[in-house]
Amino acid sequence: MVSTTPQAGISPLFEQSYPVNNKRLKEWVNEVAELCQPERIYWCDGSEDEYQRLCSELVKCGTLIPLNQEKRPGSFLARSAPSDVARVEDRTFVCTTKKADCGPNNNWMEPETAKIILKDFFKNSMRGRTMYVVPFSMGPLGSPLSQIGVEITDSAYVVVNMKLMTRMGKAVVELLGEDKGFTPCLHSVGHPLAQGEEDVAWPCDAEHKYICHFPESKEIWSYGSGYGGNALLGKKCLALRIASAMGKEEGWLAEHMLILGVQSPAGEKSYIAAAFPSACGKTNFAMLIPPQGLGEWKVTTVGDDIAWIRPGADGKLYAINPEAGYFGVAPGTSPNTNPNAIETLKRNCIFTNVALTPDGDVWWEGLTEEAPKELIDWQGRKWTPDCGRKAAHPNSRFTVSAKQCPSLDPAWNDENGVPISAFVFGGRRATAVPLIFEAFNWNFGVYMAATLGSETTAAAVGKVGEVRRDPMAMLPFCGYHMGDYFNHWIQMGHEIKNPPQIFCVNWFRADRNGKIMWPGFSENMRVLKWISDRIHGRAGAKQTALGWMPRYEDIDWTGLESITEDEFDALMHVDTELWKSELASHSELFEKLQERLPRELVITREMLELSLSRL
Ligand code: OXD
Ligand code: MN
Repeated sequence: MVSTTPQAGISPLFEQSYPVNNKRLKEWVNEVAELCQPERIYWCDGSEDEYQRLCSELVKCGTLIPLNQEKRPGSFLARSAPSDVARVEDRTFVCTTKKADCGPNNNWMEPETAKIILKDFFKNSMRGRTMYVVPFSMGPLGSPLSQIGVEITDSAYVVVNMKLMTRMGKAVVELLGEDKGFTPCLHSVGHPLAQGEEDVAWPCDAEHKYICHFPESKEIWSYGSGYGGNALLGKKCLALRIASAMGKEEGWLAEHMLILGVQSPAGEKSYIAAAFPSACGKTNFAMLIPPQGLGEWKVTTVGDDIAWIRPGADGKLYAINPEAGYFGVAPGTSPNTNPNAIETLKRNCIFTNVALTPDGDVWWEGLTEEAPKELIDWQGRKWTPDCGRKAAHPNSRFTVSAKQCPSLDPAWNDENGVPISAFVFGGRRATAVPLIFEAFNWNFGVYMAATLGSETTAAAVGKVGEVRRDPMAMLPFCGYHMGDYFNHWIQMGHEIKNPPQIFCVNWFRADRNGKIMWPGFSENMRVLKWISDRIHGRAGAKQTALGWMPRYEDIDWTGLESITEDEFDALMHVDTELWKSELASHSELFEKLQERLPRELVITREMLELSLSRL
């Protein structure tokens, strides 16, 4: 370990156990240290030893609580400040020189102004703390499809999460060599410590938060929050907002999509990328275990949240999962809904804002049918089933390495990615949207994806349960004007020889009493099988105004008797009146994006209106 001072004028203790030759990286670390005035600078090497050491330090300062080592070996619980529990969309900014370029889908700040404001917040923000330098690769190390980022953070909780979520450490610095570029990601919890001041378990700035993206200079500055997507900057900030802007410039796509492999009993394998808004069960779908009757089918997991997709030389699209772990929503995850996740979570996990059982294990709503008799809730208070509060926060999370997932696809780390045969788009819709349909063609599919709607959930701060238009499930994550993004999608369809087929699903359609009609989870395999059969040109379908739909007999019902033909009809019904209001709501979205809306989408809307009027 080298201990020196990085530069005259400041003297934090400087710890680096490996050589760093990248000039820009060294300069940037010095600039940040001068601005933030940490007590110590520590360069993360990404080793297992380092992870264990940092976890022990986090236990000492109360941020992590070790769980029962027999029940949950190597695992910890963190409890955040109640003011810091989710992504803060209203404090998330895209800073482009021209306001028009960030689009009505983003909050805007002028880049120079944003930096003046941010510098003021970052000034001295790391006093009394360690500044960690966290080099990470999004995507397999050295893959031409990957991107390198370096996060500077004053949160050890962020470092240990980044270790699980990315390929992190000194191998990344080696890849950077002397002059390779990287995305600088600056993060501070915004809670400096005066001399002798005692730290709190979850430091953050309760009043001020700024999550700022600079797509033109490809930088991220995040201040004031230590939670999830606000702080683990490789995820939503780099892999979606900044990467979507990179993809637009360079001809690829960064999408809010899981990637799964589906294999038929005959051994035919296809890969599918599927977009769902936050907390709609992406992790469950990515780790699906086929139900009785379809047991010879197999689903494997490449990723559960983000896909980077590029055209390959053979005219197909290829995708990688830029992440190396899962930061999943805990509530609702159970041996019934996602047995693979439950197996993945058996060891070496960081749980955040779930409840603690008397014997040192974790619990959340939905984990077991019956709640334990007593618990300590996510805020550290005594909890009983009749107390009227949730034991786990609705946006409580687990962080775990992908390597522990039993359904991990053998090609998950392939530097060339996997070939994508279909895109699936789905939202949480109680009405209107059928269980499954296939778009007629690429532009029609892009239209359906662009107008995707979903009822909001707890993954972001705000109202829960309202339908919001969430194009391609990217509304909070597209780092530029949504109209330009639609154009980019339309364009990609022209450029590739074999564009994937596009499907839309809705697992959440409800009956008149509000009861969700489709059993979901493993039973989604029946829909997946139809999709897979369509890819291979085998499955039957009927033509409707919305696209191609399976008839009752086109779905394999082996082992499931509970869905009758009438119930299936209800799940698939296209209600003309409801679709009139759907189209009106599509128009509202289009009006907002009018200046940059592709003509293709306007034409598709007209065609759709016409075919619905003929029903
Ligand atoms: C997530 C989200 O955390 O979409 O994946 O909010
Ligand atoms: Mn997500």
